[in-house]
Amino acid sequence: MDKDINILAIESSCDETAAAVVRNGREVLSNIIASQIDIHKKFGGVVPEVASRKHIEVINAVTQEAIEASKMRMQDIDAVAVTYGPGLVGALLVGLQYAKGLAYALKKPFIGVNHIEGHISANFIEHKDLEPPFVCLVVSGGHTFIVYMKDYGVFETIGETRDDAAGEAYDKVARAIGLGYPGGPKIDKLSKEGNEQAIYFPRASFHDDSLDFSFSGLKSSVLNYINKMEMKGEEINKADVAASFQKSVVDVLTENVIRTCKLKKVDRIAIAGGVASNSRLRQELIAAGEKNNISVLFPSPILCTDNAAMIGSAAYFEYIKGVRSSLDINAMPNLKLGER
Ligand code: KG4
Ligand code: ZN
Repeated sequence: MDKDINILAIESSCDETAAAVVRNGREVLSNIIASQIDIHKKFGGVVPEVASRKHIEVINAVTQEAIEASKMRMQDIDAVAVTYGPGLVGALLVGLQYAKGLAYALKKPFIGVNHIEGHISANFIEHKDLEPPFVCLVVSGGHTFIVYMKDYGVFETIGETRDDAAGEAYDKVARAIGLGYPGGPKIDKLSKEGNEQAIYFPRASFHDDSLDFSFSGLKSSVLNYINKMEMKGEEINKADVAASFQKSVVDVLTENVIRTCKLKKVDRIAIAGGVASNSRLRQELIAAGEKNNISVLFPSPILCTDNAAMIGSAAYFEYIKGVRSSLDINAMPNLKLGER
């Protein structure tokens, strides 16, 4: 395509209100994120109703800032894209309605984007030459998937969590040891001071050859350990608990994703989602990749957690295929990958 395609993208599926302008799917002209973490921290997790209200308060300013920072004029944008699922329905609706209004007023094409596809697409921004096929591990607060991306917008889910998401397990364990929300980065940091061999926590596997995950047993096992220690009147070593828990998560993620590469005969893994910024996961996957001749790609931390640049990237690859959404699409809290 000769002409540059500049997409204004909006994301509001959880607790980040974000807007970005992305050129040709890979060049970020602006990427503005207003995080609500400080508000939700007080409650120990995201409160959906509070999230929706906060999105309403800031979405206009965030979008205007994204346009200004991109040095583009609103009318020169080629399309408006927005996350329409999966996510919190009230939160999604704010971004969706706002984006529809913009697309209608500007008379621009409108594209609804799957949030998970967005996370995966963060890798196209970070790695300019990356093209499908590759295996992708999506690990966030709400999702844990292993996906085989055959082509742009074409996915085969190889494994997924049967209960908690990896990030959710991090958040729950962090809460149990008094680290606060969001727990992932805090466990990541504290683990550096702990011994990951100190306590053996289980690694769930299934009798069939399934590449699915389960983290709720691990979470219960950590909670049981804490309770037992409290009952014995012994003090827990938080750093050891954090490091041992983290090791269990990282081991299963690494093992299943490497097994998927062998199954699909693919020598490239891209990691996506908030947990992809975890330092131990990066370390262990890179080491496993070197051992198995598999290259492991990560987006920078700012592109791992929720942002709108990744939505602009995913939207571009849909746009050039001719995909357009109707202005009457609804928010889809349980939208599946590859579904429209
Ligand atoms: O992708 P994301 O921003 O939101 C969802 O779509 O869910 O992911 C947020 C999740 C939270 O559970 C957070 O604790 C986790 O990602 N997270 C981490 C790290 N940074 C964020 N988990 C482990 N280590 C990290 N460094
Ligand atoms: Zn996300």
